[in-house]
This record gives sequence, C-alpha cells and structure tokens, in this order.
Amino acid sequence: MTGGIGFAYLVTAVGFILALKGLSSPRTARQGNLIGAAGMALAFGYTLAVKGASHAILLVVALAIGVALGVPAARKVKMTAMPQMVALFNGVGGGAAALVALDDFSISAHSHLGSLWAVLFDVVIGAVSFSGSAIAFAKLQELMPGRPITYPAQQPVNAAIAAVIVVSAVATFFGGGALTLAIATLGSLVLGVAFVLPIGGADAPVVISLLNSFTGLAVAASGFVLSNTVLIVGGTLVGASGTILTRMMSQAMGRSLPNILFSAFGSASTTAAGKAGGEDRPVRTGSPEDIATMLSYAEQVMIVPGYGLAVAQAQHTIRELANALAQRGVRVIFAIHPVAGRMPGHMNVLLAEADVPYEQLKEMDEANSTMSLTDVALVVGANDVVNPAARDAKGSPIYGMPIISVDQAKAVVFLKRSMRPGFAGIDNELLYNPKTTLLFGDAKESLSKLVAAVKNT
Ligand code: TAP
Repeated sequence: MTGGIGFAYLVTAVGFILALKGLSSPRTARQGNLIGAAGMALAFGYTLAVKGASHAILLVVALAIGVALGVPAARKVKMTAMPQMVALFNGVGGGAAALVALDDFSISAHSHLGSLWAVLFDVVIGAVSFSGSAIAFAKLQELMPGRPITYPAQQPVNAAIAAVIVVSAVATFFGGGALTLAIATLGSLVLGVAFVLPIGGADAPVVISLLNSFTGLAVAASGFVLSNTVLIVGGTLVGASGTILTRMMSQAMGRSLPNILFSAFGSASTTAAGKAGGEDRPVRTGSPEDIATMLSYAEQVMIVPGYGLAVAQAQHTIRELANALAQRGVRVIFAIHPVAGRMPGHMNVLLAEADVPYEQLKEMDEANSTMSLTDVALVVGANDVVNPAARDAKGSPIYGMPIISVDQAKAVVFLKRSMRPGFAGIDNELLYNPKTTLLFGDAKESLSKLVAAVKNT
C-alpha cells in the first residue's frame, strides 16, 4: 500500500470511529453521519485515483446508480418504515460482500490459500445476511405475514442446512471447486431465509441488527482477502457495534437473544400466554376537555411515547401539546423507553424531527426516579413498555422487561385507538386501573383535540 493511500485510509478509519461516537447521541448524530460519509468519500476517491483508474468508468457508474437509488429512498422513507429500509440496505451490503468474495475465489483458490478461509467465510455470512435481510424486509413491509412462520422440526432442519454449508465449505477449502462452493453459497441463502422465517415481524429489528453485525464481519473478511485495511477497520466496527446494539436491544426487552431468535415470539402459542385485549371489563374514558383540565392543572406531566405515535405521525402535535402545557407552567418530561417503537432510537428520532428539546427527554431510569412526583403520565401509542406485567407477573412472556413505571404516577392517561394489545399481544391491567383514563382515537387526532382544549382551559 502506498503511503498516500495508507494515510487516506487512516483518516477514513478515524472518521468512522468519530462517526460512531457522534451517532451515540441524538444531539450529535447528524454530524456523526456526515463525518462517516466524508470518510467513505475520501476512501472511495483515493481508491479510484490510485488503484481504480482501469475501472474508473465502471466504478463511477456503480456509484451513480447507488446515489440515484439511495438518496431519494432515504429522503422519502417514512419513520415507521425505517427498520425495513435498514434491512434492505444491510442485505445489499451482505450480498455485495458475498459477490466480491465469489469473484475473489478463483484468485485465492490458486494463489493465496491463507485467504481462502476468509473468502469462504465472506460468501457464507454475506449470503445469509442477504437472504435473511430480504425476509426481514418482506415481513416488515408486509409483503409476507409478519407473524412467525413455523413448521415441525424447524430447528433441526436449520441445523442440517448449517451442517451442509460447513461440509461444503470445508470441502472447498481442501480442493473442492465451483460445485462445492455453489452448494455452500446456495445453502447459505436458504439458511438466511430459514433462520428469519420463525422470527416475528416486531422482533425483526433485533435480527436486522444481528445480520448487520454479520455483514460487518463479512466485509472485514473481504478486507483480509483484498489486503484492504479500511475494509477490515470498517467491517470490524460494524460487526462490533451491531453486536453491542443487538445485546442492548435484547436486554431492553428483558429477553435473551436465543429467546428472540428461536422462540417464535408473537406466534399464537406465545400470545395465548397473555390474554388478548378487547375484553368486556369496564374502563374509564374521558373527554379531551376532562383530560386537558387534568394536564393543565398538573405540576409535572410525563409523556410516554410509543409505536402508535410513529404510526399516527403525531410528533409535531405532541410537541404542540408540550409547548401549550409548558406555557401554563407545567413541567413536561418525555420519558423514552429504549425499545419504544420498532427500532432503536425510534422515539428520539421522531421527537428530534419535531424539534422537541433534548433537555425534555429523559431515559427510562431517570424518568422512573421522578415518577412519584408526576401528576399525570400521558401514554401516547405505547403499551408494552408501560405494562406492569413485565415487572409483576412472573408467567408473562414479557416478564423481566424493564418498564417505565407509569402506574406509580398519580394519574395515568392512555391515548390509543382501541383495547387491542401492543406488539407482545398481552393485555395491560393498567388500562383497567381506577387511576387510568382512556381517550380512544388516532393519536394525532386526540392530541389535536387536547391542544385545543388546553388552550381553552
Ligand atoms: P406497543 O406495545 O406495540 O403498543 C403500541 C400501541 O400503540 C398499541 O397499544 C396500539 O393500540 C397503539 N397505536 C397504534 N397505532 C396507533 C395510532 N394511530 N394512534 C394511537 N395509538 C395507536 O408499543 P411500545 O409500547 O412502543 O412497545 C414496543 C414493543 O416493540 C415492545 O414490545 C418491544 O419489545 C417491541 N420491539 C421493539 C424494538 C425496538 S428496538 N424499539 C425492537 C423489537 C421489538 P391500538 O391498536 O388500540 O391503537
């Protein structure tokens, strides 16, 4: 590697690390993203200038196609569709890593036996990531049923496919040719599909994060094959951050990774463990005016947003309500559960879009510490993340998931459309609690009515 390109790659690697640092907080995320993109542009530019002159036209055309597809897609995507977009981009990355490795196979097989293991690893992981992400995308985009798809002996079948992949990859390493490599590649594509089928749509973000870490490892393996430092560094960073994110999501849901991957959570058998909503028990409903009065005369209101806020696209209206209350001297806090919504940081991104000041956002533990001082907890389109069953009901499928303990506030208000449960399919006892008031309707409409009523109070 020449000194110039080595230095450019070093700057790129530092850019990637700074990008990750920036992405760790909503306040600096935008800047982090730009630094990462600049690092990537630098690496691409130098590679093109120093190494790629002979393929310059091809590379520029590929870049132009990527930009033409990626920029409008990223600009137009709805916040609720972000997880499937990440799945799609991640899958494309895995597929690209596998294709690069297949292309490298002929060189490595004959000249660098040492890098052949990396090629095989790359093909297998890249192909699993590609097809697995494609299924996750299809589930989230509702192109296929989002529920877990299970069949008898599913895990043994998956283990058998994995065994075929290992045997054919080992055979390829020890002199097999295109046929054994093709079996390993096809087997990996099938395994990616089979692995994701039994995972419910709402658990898909965790799987996408896991597949993302796989893609990172595949890219790092490509770096070994091509002796490219920036691929090794970039791939390793993606692999490590994807692994940490997967772990954090599992912890925030109070479930182990094997439980998420193998228990078909969300299928009929698991939802039956909790009573489904819509029972005929009495609940207390309130008019927008009643609730506006409660909110307006409170000292502290804690707003707990959830998936329904994203569905209703009510982020701007919720900020209007928070402003109207703040103008009346009410202290307003937004309590953010780490897995509220359907992807990491879902609520932060949504509220940032509506310019809710970061100082108003409190993480779960901090919010819980001030819950007893909260006069009204206003739960907007959230359910599982405030369900006391996660804390109190030992047999519940969500038992162990940390929650925002809104039941410890003086009063609770839920804005939702019906008595239907949240993602976990479990009834929420808090909806029937005497201190709870419900306002049924789409979150955006309900919030608009509350804004008007608070202003008139
Ligand atoms: P959920 O428990 O899914 O509850 C969402 C609530 O929003 C439902 O009760 C629904 O009730 C209501 N809703 C839907 N559309 C609405 C609308 N237009 N207006 C008003 N309300 C609406 O959401 P949550 O509390 O945010 O919990 C997230 C769940 O997703 C957790 O179980 C979590 O483990 C899981 N999960 C999260 C992630 C990440 S990383 N965030 C990843 C995987 C899984 P109605 O239908 O009655 O309106």
